[in-house]
Amino acid sequence: MAVSVSGKSDQRDIHAIRQAYYDRISTRDMAPLWEVMKDLVPREPVTACVPAIWHFAEVRPLVEEAGTLITAKEAERRVLVLENPAMRGKSRITQSLYAGLQLIMPGEIAPAHRHTASAIRLVIEGEGAYTAVEGEKTLMKPGDFVITANWSAHDHGNTSPQPMIWLDVLDVPTVNFFEAAFSEHLDSEMQNTAREDGDSLARYGSGVLPDGTEPMQRTPIVNYPYARMRPILERLKRAGDIDSRHGARIRYVNPLTGGWATPTMGAHLSLLPQGFKGAPARSTDGSIFVCVEGSGATKVDNQMLEWSPGDVFVVPPWKRHEHHATKESVLFGISDRPAQELLGIWREER
Ligand SMILES: [Fe+2]
Repeated sequence: MAVSVSGKSDQRDIHAIRQAYYDRISTRDMAPLWEVMKDLVPREPVTACVPAIWHFAEVRPLVEEAGTLITAKEAERRVLVLENPAMRGKSRITQSLYAGLQLIMPGEIAPAHRHTASAIRLVIEGEGAYTAVEGEKTLMKPGDFVITANWSAHDHGNTSPQPMIWLDVLDVPTVNFFEAAFSEHLDSEMQNTAREDGDSLARYGSGVLPDGTEPMQRTPIVNYPYARMRPILERLKRAGDIDSRHGARIRYVNPLTGGWATPTMGAHLSLLPQGFKGAPARSTDGSIFVCVEGSGATKVDNQMLEWSPGDVFVVPPWKRHEHHATKESVLFGISDRPAQELLGIWREER
């Protein structure tokens, strides 16, 4: 049937006719693309995520209180999830990444398990708890970047006298988006740890590789200790290798390929000299930052997120942001950039 669309009453008619048609096709589980096309294919990235910051001084007592409510064994992992304020109830800080603050008290064990999702830890407070991954038991210190890659068995334990808190970031929402998640509890709480602490860093992170090493999609290094990374930032700073947006920045790599540490999550460590006023940057990956040292603020659009050590904040995808440092500062940052690069969709504004 040909329909005229001229005139006001005709306009009303066409809307009614179209709606009746949409209702009919809806009974067959079909819908008109032209009604949703603008939302499906936006002119530029649209995010449901908002900028947010969790100040460590404010949330630390709440994290510690969880230690009185539930044991690590009972909880399996005693973690407070950092939920993006615009996506409450979805256990995520960005659409693709989960983040949480994990507490492990002296003497506790978080039992061995494995899952399809990859996890990273960035140690915020405490020293001496361990993560055991694939037979290597690594003792963790503040600023250490620890990886438990896809399907690798891992357990944590705290043999130190103090509580320990770290940031967990996992690609859980990404894996769940694909509906590809598996997990498994292992029979023993703790793995056999035949390899000494630092084994994987010595083997793979020293400019050499054990002969015959085959490339892997993700790094074989379990812990990138802050004590090894910090002096590298200092060298970059002394040499003046300071990016106008990101400061003196290093990228955590998979030494077997030069690629990112994991295929889904990529991390950086940046030194911002005292008084640094970063140029605006934006990219399609939303980033989670942790202030490891110093103090300053990150301007996201017109919002200022003021940070000091232990604070965790999130910059949504494609939001312009600028880092300002009042003291010499070190920021850890992590995002889904590797996944976007593999899919060919990552972009940045330069
Ligand atoms: Fe886990």
